[in-house]
Amino acid sequence: MCGIVAYTGYREAYPVLLKGLKRLEYRGYDSAGIALLNGDLNVYKKKGKVSDLESHLKETQLHSTIGVGHTRWATHGQPNDVNAHPHYSFNKRLAIIHNGIIENYNVLKQDLTNKGYQFLSETDSEVLVHFIEDVQANSNCSLEEAIRLALHQVVGAYAIVVISKDHPDTLFAARKGSPLVIGVGKGEHFLASDATPIIEYTSDVIYLDDLEIAVITKDKVSIKSLDDVLTTPYVHTLEMELEAIEKNGFDHFMLKEIFEQPKSVKDSMRGRVNAAKGHLLLGGLRDYLNKLVHAQRVVILGCGTSWHAGLVAEYLFEEFARIPVEVEYASEFRYRNPIINEGDVVIAISQSGETADTLAAIELAKSKGAIIFGVCNVVGSSIPRATHAGAYTHAGPEIGVASTKAFTAQVTVLSMMAIIVARAKGTITESQYQELLVEFENIPAKIQRILDKHAQIEYIADIFKDARNFLFLGRGYNFPVALEGALKLKEISYIHAEGYPAAEMKHGPIALIDEEMPVVFIATRDSSYEKIISNIQEVRARKGRVIVVATEGDALVEKMAEFVIEIPHTHEALVPLLSVIPLQILSYHIAVMRGCNVDQPRNLAKSVTVE
Ligand code: AGP
Ligand code: GLU
Repeated sequence: MCGIVAYTGYREAYPVLLKGLKRLEYRGYDSAGIALLNGDLNVYKKKGKVSDLESHLKETQLHSTIGVGHTRWATHGQPNDVNAHPHYSFNKRLAIIHNGIIENYNVLKQDLTNKGYQFLSETDSEVLVHFIEDVQANSNCSLEEAIRLALHQVVGAYAIVVISKDHPDTLFAARKGSPLVIGVGKGEHFLASDATPIIEYTSDVIYLDDLEIAVITKDKVSIKSLDDVLTTPYVHTLEMELEAIEKNGFDHFMLKEIFEQPKSVKDSMRGRVNAAKGHLLLGGLRDYLNKLVHAQRVVILGCGTSWHAGLVAEYLFEEFARIPVEVEYASEFRYRNPIINEGDVVIAISQSGETADTLAAIELAKSKGAIIFGVCNVVGSSIPRATHAGAYTHAGPEIGVASTKAFTAQVTVLSMMAIIVARAKGTITESQYQELLVEFENIPAKIQRILDKHAQIEYIADIFKDARNFLFLGRGYNFPVALEGALKLKEISYIHAEGYPAAEMKHGPIALIDEEMPVVFIATRDSSYEKIISNIQEVRARKGRVIVVATEGDALVEKMAEFVIEIPHTHEALVPLLSVIPLQILSYHIAVMRGCNVDQPRNLAKSVTVE
């Protein structure tokens, strides 16, 4: 949930670290700091954004070719200068940056305090670096060995980088449950929480695995398991382009990513959908497709927006593949004692591939014998490496904390999965199959037609930007979209918003309706259209302010709603790919008009790698 970056090589380290932290700021941004080695070990850190740290260091001479940087999302200790990372060891010969949670830090801290160690911060991370110092002092061993021994006694999750005055050209890194990527350059090496700070220097990366320790100099990378077994690192060549992680003229990453969706949805289908040839294939499923075809039940795991994509998948798999589906919040599933039967298949959905709750739920399901498919966006992230099979969504890097293009890419891949399984089972006809394939290929252009109406949606945003509450209502495939629309609005504009199945209104929420309450209906022409028209009437009868996402040309809705946002007609099962777009745009503009930090909303981070 925070951003880690480190460098050793021939360049000035500070500019590399600073730019790297700015690229990682979407992962956490309540405080930031760096540590540089140049004979001395100096730590500079500050509450606030990376730009605040940069201003703070404007007059400081910062010459070094090795250092570490951290942008924090606090778990232990409030965001302030002292709790910011990096943290010194007690003897100030070590400095650490840490992503994750040391669950047994209290016990360790008590023991270290009894030994006379003193602490400056409230963080668990400072305890870890003091513990490493203590282990090295007591075992009279190398720093690498001390880190290894210490981590054997640590409970929790970590991605750490340690630098030492006694090793002026070496980075020591280790991970368990939080991500770390090594960038392999010529005469230089990089470390980061993901590839975005690395890509402008090198496309060659090594993904550190859980329970591995890396000892890195500018010319050498040595990786061992926590059991001290040397491993041969595998160097991947990334295809990510630098422009994919720049704003390219958009005010915010979120707006850029909303407008990228015709391309990102097309990319999620590239090489997988060919209507002319009747082809629909997901290579990553091939070896395990039979498990899905013969599944007695599908359990879908995810959090937040990914959980909403899972709800769409529930409708798809049950309608087309006739397989019972349960959609679980990963954070709940992992702490229950869930029943996983022989023949159950699990689908884990995650943009980042690093969400701690989803990772833990996967491990639990695996321990109970389930076959796990992953649907992820970040290549090489932890979840794809923890699952038996899966498919990448290929939406490209999603930097905005509020997930947009990742959602539509997830729904696209999940739709393809459901149709592939249905065809293999013979639960859909050839004409249904062909109709869906043709419509898949029409979606990107239809998304573009909605994006072309963004000025109309901005106008509506201006009218409702000061609302204190919103309701989002939908039925069938549009019920998960209503939930997603509510999440988008609340997480970037801080307006309280709730999504409901439209029929649920009469079971309580309708009491909320008055002339202050904007209600967004997703009322596209589908099998539940007549029912939702009645729901609109119910809200209007109580003076609710009605905004409707409707199918183009719907004259009836025009008469009933205060505002109508029209979207092109499409197959009912693919409507979420279109109906979510106006809600993304509406939320974006309301948040901007309210002066909110759209790409880095308060209290949030892009990848929730802690529990
Ligand atoms: C969605 O806009 C949020 N950023 C959040 O709910 C997110 O979807 C959730 O944390 C899951 O993240 P993941 O898809 O990377 O696992
Ligand atoms: N647990 C550490 C802290 O609170 C690290 C949090 C993070 O991963 O950002 O400082």
